Amino acid sequence: MDHFHYLRGHLHAEDVPIAHIATAVGTPFYCYSTATLTRHYTVFRDALAGLDATICYAMKANPNLAVVATLAGLGAGADVVSEGELRRALAAGVPADRIVFSGVGKTEEELTFALTCGIMQINVESEPELHMLNRLAVDLGVQASVALRVNPDVDAGTHAKITTGRKENKFGIEWIRAHRVMREAALLPGIALRGVAVHIGSQLTELEPFRDAFLRLRDLVAMLRADGIPITRLDLGGGLGVPYEDEIPPSPEAYAAVVREVLGDLDCKLIFEPGRVLVGNAGLLVSRVIHVKEGATRTFAVLDAGMNDLMRPALYDSHHAIVPVNEPPPDVERVPVDVVGPICETTDTFARQRMLPALRAGALVAFRTAGAYGAAMSSTYNSRPLIPEVLVRGDAFSLIRARPTYDEMLAQETLPDWLGGT
Ligand code: LLP
Repeated sequence: MDHFHYLRGHLHAEDVPIAHIATAVGTPFYCYSTATLTRHYTVFRDALAGLDATICYAMKANPNLAVVATLAGLGAGADVVSEGELRRALAAGVPADRIVFSGVGKTEEELTFALTCGIMQINVESEPELHMLNRLAVDLGVQASVALRVNPDVDAGTHAKITTGRKENKFGIEWIRAHRVMREAALLPGIALRGVAVHIGSQLTELEPFRDAFLRLRDLVAMLRADGIPITRLDLGGGLGVPYEDEIPPSPEAYAAVVREVLGDLDCKLIFEPGRVLVGNAGLLVSRVIHVKEGATRTFAVLDAGMNDLMRPALYDSHHAIVPVNEPPPDVERVPVDVVGPICETTDTFARQRMLPALRAGALVAFRTAGAYGAAMSSTYNSRPLIPEVLVRGDAFSLIRARPTYDEMLAQETLPDWLGGT
């Protein structure tokens, strides 16, 4: 459920007409809804009621300060994967003791920064990282609060490019080595070993892979406890899917039921790292049709948004619903159209032969479910400025990231002296 709807024939974000925002900030732009963010966070949180749970929002899905601050205001912590995200989380008001640092290749500088911030947990993904972190912590005279990310070798049944829990993926410590590495970690002076972490993939639409991974985790906890290694925390990662097209992902309640069933009696603090399920539905990408072009065999709607603004269709063949901002009559004829961007690559295609009401040049369209991994993954390819982001709350809206000017973009670069630079 979201708070984007037609009112009197015009698409609104909560109480604000999308067309008003388009006039104010220009197109294309991302638009987020506070009420939708709040709803998704509270549904997820309430599903976990009764468990000792901390929700660490996976900021990679949408790192905008205002989005993170909105979730932090509701009580969310943060899952970060770089120093940049860690600094953003702190700047958005997330307390350090609710921040988890994940990632397969954290640098010495990043780990040192995390140690000096005193964050809740660093998820260690490999033996070399374990030893690097131990050394840095000893040098700083602190102990790093650590969970080891294990790779449970389960098939998440999701797109190959976003699956992470198979043994051929780069993530986590190999399942068969996990036990030995945990025992080793428990003996290191700079490491306070608290628990185990898993994250098996993203956009999961079935519960079974979660159950399989959690069962493996349960076995590992039993083995470790039998060895006298106290395990007090389990980080269960993110991954719960959202409906983009006709998938029906499990509800947070159903997901929480599996957590309770498999892990509920282990007396562990549970950490969750949801990203997409909190923000995916809470965002639109709004774009204007530049031209409608009749090709030899098909019609193209050429938009002012390109694959640099929303990479997901080009990268993962993903589907985003596209809706006209002016509500079409219910009985409108739908015609097949290829919805494309202006970028000089064939892969700059958002939808092929999509059945849409006939679009005209100048019309506004909105891509739904664009709040996660949309703006976050955008680039300036073709020297296109990053597009603005707007947050709506009730009848108010605020520009939460401005579109840079061309001068600002050029100012980032300098010419060497042999090319006339100063
Ligand atoms: N925790 C870890 C360690 C992760 O690697 C991820 C996502 C998450 C949590 C959050 O997963 P979520 O709840 O959002 O599924 N760009 C891709 C998705 C990549 C996900 C990467 N890791 C996409 O647009 O579909």
